[in-house]
Order: sequence, then structure tokens, then C-alpha cells
Amino acid sequence: MTPDHAATGTMQAFVYRRYGGPDVVELADVPKPEPRDNEVLVRIHATTVTSGDWRVRTMCVPTGLGTFARLAFGFTRPRQPIMGSEMAGTIEAVGKDVTRFRVGDEVFGFPGGAMGCHAQYRAMPEDGRLARKPANLSFEEAASLPFGVSTSLHFLRKAGIRPGDKVLVIGASGGVGTAMVQLAKHHGAEVTGVTSSNNLALVRSLGADRVIDYTKDDFTARRETYDIVVDTVGRTPFARCKPVLKDKGRLLAVAAGIPEMLATLWAPLTGSRRVIAGPAEERVSDLAEMAALAEAGALRPVIDRRYQFGQMAEAHAYVETGRKRGSVVVSVDPPR
Ligand SMILES: NC(=O)c1ccc[n+]([C@@H]2O[C@H](COP(=O)([O-])OP(=O)(O)OC[C@H]3O[C@@H](n4cnc5c(N)ncnc54)[C@H](OP(=O)(O)O)[C@@H]3O)[C@@H](O)[C@H]2O)c1
Repeated sequence: MTPDHAATGTMQAFVYRRYGGPDVVELADVPKPEPRDNEVLVRIHATTVTSGDWRVRTMCVPTGLGTFARLAFGFTRPRQPIMGSEMAGTIEAVGKDVTRFRVGDEVFGFPGGAMGCHAQYRAMPEDGRLARKPANLSFEEAASLPFGVSTSLHFLRKAGIRPGDKVLVIGASGGVGTAMVQLAKHHGAEVTGVTSSNNLALVRSLGADRVIDYTKDDFTARRETYDIVVDTVGRTPFARCKPVLKDKGRLLAVAAGIPEMLATLWAPLTGSRRVIAGPAEERVSDLAEMAALAEAGALRPVIDRRYQFGQMAEAHAYVETGRKRGSVVVSVDPPR
């Protein structure tokens, strides 16, 4: 932030005014948020570009969800012009009723669908999805956690994962997959990751007991069956997955469109196997849980590429390839 920004109460942010390719994001001066009485103002040091940012920027969403996405994010153009669902930074100001945090605290946060993190500052309620940054993580590492971890916590909770469960994670090298593999292992599951040749070593290093290279092998053609199949890619419909699910097995359709959402209703009518789909709940308690897991060494951030703030469009372009491994982090203002 320059002296001009301070004098005019503005900050720099990346905004998008229409849906489209990476070139729709542009740097702009926008009003700097003023924390309300119950809010803290975070000076952002690091944020990320996630698959969620790609989806809201392009409105490229799973089958049948286009109208719902536009109702949620703006019908003809984006309602919230600043993307970015996760960040880490330092508290610069607090509202008069704030008791949980103080100026100078190092935090990480997950506004989730409310976004607004591709900016120098984000105001957040003190009882929102905000927690102290794990001491053993850098700002970049902390910013990379919430999107994938909170999604994984939600789906594994819904599945009722238990020690000894056999879990197959399709898309084990992505933002959600890398968290899913680690959390399933943490719950005592036996984990198989499905990924391409380039990412086999990464997925093994996250604790997967077995890996399947989808460029050479089709997991549906094997004789193995699983208690839980997690599909983070969205190309394995329930019908295809059913033969590899054990009795009472669950398909966690993380990237589901309407067909898999309807399967959540009809699957229980036709047998013991279930489908779990829909938007992940964004819980306040998840932040403290992931911080504790990271501090205990049970959760390791996976950062693929790092970009500077001015390279936001390049970060978007890379995420749009669909090939990122873990998270793509963007450095904003360095800590003072
Ligand atoms: N339900 C919810 O609330 C919720 C929340 C968060 C995310 N999501 C959705 O979940 C999906 C995954 O998100 P993400 O952040 O993990 O995406 P991501 O990080 O962009 O995923 C990229 C990864 O997918 C892997 N991949 C691509 N095609 C594959 C295939 N056929 N088989 C196995 N792996 C494949 C790539 O590995 P290779 O290069 O090795 O192929 C790459 O590492 C997105 O569709 C997102 O919208 C849903």
C-alpha cells in the first residue's frame, strides 16, 4: 500500500467485473474495509487461487448447476468483484467489541464462498472462520490449507469414516485430494490414491498406502472394493463406482452435478450403497481443527506454485489447466 492509498482510505485488490478467462481479473484501487465493532481487519500476506476461484470466474460448473451458481454469485456479472476464499495475515485493527484477537496477531482465515481475499485487506468477524496461524507454518502455508481441508473434513464427517476403512481418492494430487489423503490416513484408514504418473510420488509421500496411475490402469477393472470412494474429479458416476463399493459403501461426489445429487436420493432405494454430494459446509470450528492437525504434524501443506500479487492473472491461468498439485499461493504484502 502506498502513502496515497493510506491517505485516501483505499487498498489494492484484484477485481473481475464479468465472467471469463484469466484476463478478466485486473488490479484496482478499492475502498479499504473498515472493521465493524465485532470485526478484525487482517492485513493479508498470502492468499491462493483455488478451483473455486476458477469456477466462479468462468461460471464453468458441474452439470446442471449453472443457474444455481449464477443465482448465488450474480446472474449476469459477479456480485462480489473480489475473488479469493482463503488467506493468512496479521491483524492490523480490531473493532471495539473484539475480545478474541489483538492487533499484531498472526491469523489465517477462510471466508469461503463470501471470498474477498485477493486484496491487501479483509475484514472478518472475530467469531468467523478465522484462527491463529499455526506457529510451525509460514503465512503462505497457512493460507493454502482451508479450502481443501475444510472440504475434506466435511465429506469425511458425512461419510462417518472409521479406522480400518478402505478409502479410494480419485484426484489425490489436487487441492482437495492432497488434504483428503492425509485426513483419511489420520483417521486410520487404508488409503489408495488415483493420480497420473507425475504425481505418484507426491501422493505416496502424503501417506497413501497404494497409488493407481490412471493413465495406465482403470481402478474399476480391478477386483478391489472400498468402504469409501472419494471422487474429486467428477468423472466417475455412481453407476460406474458401484461395483467397487463394498456393502454400505459411500461415494463422496465432491465435484457432483445434478445427476450425482439426484443419486443421493435414489441410491438408498436401490441398495445399501450411498452417495454423498453437495456444497461442503464451511464450519468455524474447522479452522481450529486444521491448525491443531498442522501443528501436530498430521497435515502438511502442499504448495505447487507461488506467484507475486501482480501475477494474479498468471496464477488463474495455471489453476485453469486443471493440473495443479495441491495449492497455488499468491504473496500479497509481506509482514512488516
Ligand atoms: N462440494 C464442494 O463443496 C466442493 C468444495 C471444494 C472443491 N470442490 C470441487 O472439487 C473439485 C476438485 O477441486 P480441487 O481444488 O482439488 O481441484 P484441483 O486442485 O484443480 O485438481 C487438480 C488435480 O486434479 C487431478 N486430476 C485431473 N484429472 C484427473 C483424473 N482424471 N483422475 C485423477 N486425477 C485427476 C490433477 O492431477 P493429474 O495432473 O495427475 O491428472 C490435478 O492434480 C473441483 O471440481 C471443485 O470445484 C467442491
